[in-house]
Amino acid sequence: MQKTIWITGGSSGIGFATAKKFLKNNWVVVISSSNLEKLKKAKKNISNENHIENLHILKCDITNKSEVKNTITFIEEKIGKINIALLNAAAYSPNQSQEFDIENYELLINVNLKGTLYCINILKDVMKDRNNIIAIVSSPIGYRGWPTSGAYGMTKAAQLNLSESLFFDFKKIKIQIKVINPGFIDTEATRLNSFKMPFLKSADFAADKIYNGLVFKKKFEIYFPFLVVFFVKILRILPYRLYFYIWKKIGNF
Ligand SMILES: NC(=O)c1ccc[n+]([C@@H]2O[C@H](COP(=O)([O-])OP(=O)(O)OC[C@H]3O[C@@H](n4cnc5c(N)ncnc54)[C@H](OP(=O)(O)O)[C@@H]3O)[C@@H](O)[C@H]2O)c1
Repeated sequence: MQKTIWITGGSSGIGFATAKKFLKNNWVVVISSSNLEKLKKAKKNISNENHIENLHILKCDITNKSEVKNTITFIEEKIGKINIALLNAAAYSPNQSQEFDIENYELLINVNLKGTLYCINILKDVMKDRNNIIAIVSSPIGYRGWPTSGAYGMTKAAQLNLSESLFFDFKKIKIQIKVINPGFIDTEATRLNSFKMPFLKSADFAADKIYNGLVFKKKFEIYFPFLVVFFVKILRILPYRLYFYIWKKIGNF
């Protein structure tokens, strides 16, 4: 039987590339985002792909509780039981001026944190006892506080912590929790960055890693590219003095 994946934030970047990868492998794919026009455009761009009839687009702003509930109910009742929910949608706004902007904090908390929680809140009842997967797209920036990344990094750190916590708790209700930590991937979001991103990879590269990690592997964390993220993992365990010293040397922070 065909399996179904729901990808939030599937209109562009990593979400859209992952949608194409699952589609190619004959999954039923539902992509949602807050902007229906963007979703339509994304679908049109791949209208010649095989299995395009298996791609569904649904408007779902994850900050809107009732839209989230209606979307999940619609997928389950009209499209197919969700085997994988890829909670990928996020807002991103680099803080080059390093000013504390409370509105930016609020925006990122609403989308990246509350929005993700609204999805999980409905999915936990719907996916219960099916041994299927909820995968949360976080970021290695969540391992530790980086300069200029207070708002975004905080939401990603919270998602990481949440995933670890729910990994234990959702075992009891037979839902597998996974976390995805990509390095720098070339997308609309990262094109806003003003610095040169080391080891930048394409969204298709990310999609391959996510597909293999979700479909073939049992690991809790899917991270890539290996060397870059491994390096960031080492930063995670350094004592503060050394950690701060490295940032001072890198960019005089
Ligand atoms: N690119 C990287 O280097 C990188 C690295 C680590 C982690 N990540 C993570 O990967 C994920 C995807 O990022 P990306 O780089 O592919 O960015 P992107 O191209 O900007 O995609 C973000 C997606 O989220 C959707 N979105 C934004 N606000 C939404 C809302 N309120 N409700 C529903 N959907 C919403 C956007 O669509 P609409 O505008 O149509 O709503 C878009 O489809 C994010 O969680 C990001 O934090 C990215």
